[in-house]
Amino acid sequence: MIRSIISGILLLFGLLIGCSKSKPEKKTLTVQPPSEMAVLMHAMEENALQWKAAFTEDAPTPSAFPELDLLYTADLTPGFERDEFFIKSADSYTKAYEEFVSEPTIKGHNLIVANCITCHQQKCTGPLVRIEKLKIK
Ligand code: HEC
Repeated sequence: MIRSIISGILLLFGLLIGCSKSKPEKKTLTVQPPSEMAVLMHAMEENALQWKAAFTEDAPTPSAFPELDLLYTADLTPGFERDEFFIKSADSYTKAYEEFVSEPTIKGHNLIVANCITCHQQKCTGPLVRIEKLKIK
């Protein structure tokens, strides 16, 4: 009983945060620690969520910024590659982010999210639905 609860939780965990959709053949109970890049991605996502709340719910504007330099240096989960496409997308994302920070607008926020989506469509489709929700309509 407890075991099935635990594996249920782990499966859900994988579904929620992993890059790919769940792979049934991989239902083992080993949990890989997130890579440096995955940790950075969560910081970027959290930051975008906070900005969305600042625009739509009068929440305070976030004071901390994700360390975007890490896009070029962080270790990736084995299987992912910092190839030319990744670097181009990272450049474009960083540019959009810098423009946004100098003048935060909803349009700029949505441009950042569009940059998340461009990279993810090629690199990591799992979180796309979640990323879509960061957009401000
Ligand atoms: C330059 C390409 C690129 C951009 C831009 C990008 N991502 Fe990612 N993202 C990745 C890659 C590659 C991974 C897998 C990293 C790994 O597991 O090492 C990832 C992983 C993730 C994950 C899953 C982390 C996990 O726990 O496995 C989330 C969530 C995520 N990104 C959200 C975002 C959000 C939100 C943005 C924009 C604010 C964004 N990403 C921008 C390439 C990108």
